Amino acid sequence: APTDEIIGATAAAANMTEAEERSRPVSNLLFIIAMQAEALPLVTKFQLTEDTDRSIFTKGVPWVRYYGNYKDLQINLVRPGKDPSLGVDNVGTISASLVTYASIQVLKPDLIINAGTSGGFKAKGASVGDVFVATDVAFHDRRIPIPVFDLYGIGARRSFSTPNLVKDLNLKEGKLSTGDSLDMSPHDAAAISANDATVKDMEGAAIAYVADLLSVPAVFVKAVTDIVDGEKPTTEEFVDNLASVTAALDRAVTQVVDYINGKCLSEL
Ligand code: ADE
Repeated sequence: APTDEIIGATAAAANMTEAEERSRPVSNLLFIIAMQAEALPLVTKFQLTEDTDRSIFTKGVPWVRYYGNYKDLQINLVRPGKDPSLGVDNVGTISASLVTYASIQVLKPDLIINAGTSGGFKAKGASVGDVFVATDVAFHDRRIPIPVFDLYGIGARRSFSTPNLVKDLNLKEGKLSTGDSLDMSPHDAAAISANDATVKDMEGAAIAYVADLLSVPAVFVKAVTDIVDGEKPTTEEFVDNLASVTAALDRAVTQVVDYINGKCLSEL
């Protein structure tokens, strides 16, 4: 069907087992990217087209989808768009969860890549411009101090493991901690440290949760815009470095996509 060609539904349509899926080349890649400034360079790089008129999503939502073919891959890139009244990007876990859920339902991706910027901890080896692949993700702002609910709140999970990709592309690895604030409260600091995180973002663990629910492998590529345990105020450092670090993210993501092209999940 023409719709299938555009949105890609190969794995689901073929009704493959998980083992079978992992031993055929990845064909349908879904990017989830929170900010327009992070997304647009990749839209250009992969020559994606914006789905303007026929939204695959429920009418009225601000989510934006770009699609196209790059080498042997069908690529969809989805961002949560702008807040309808405030006009700023819908960053954070709520929009990320919703857009991930809806995108998986319709697009049936083989693999999700959540790419974006992050804060980094120099005590854990992060510098501005570094690009990390997250080995693990967890939340740092969901405090439920009751046995077992505490663990539920933290929501730690391993991300899809890509040892060959990380090694061959010489990428840094570290744990990612997610919360809905750009700044860091004293509790956040303690929780991030307990999570053993090197990088801090506002979407990763939420996307991991949804991907896990729907059994889609997800990887997290995070470029460092600001050093959380440094001297500069986070907001200034973030705004100052956003453009240059987005360019570094771009280069890394392109390498990652080129690496994935033609490979199966089990080879990553
Ligand atoms: N994205 C970029 N910098 C960040 C930070 N310090 N915290 C959370 N998300 C970020």
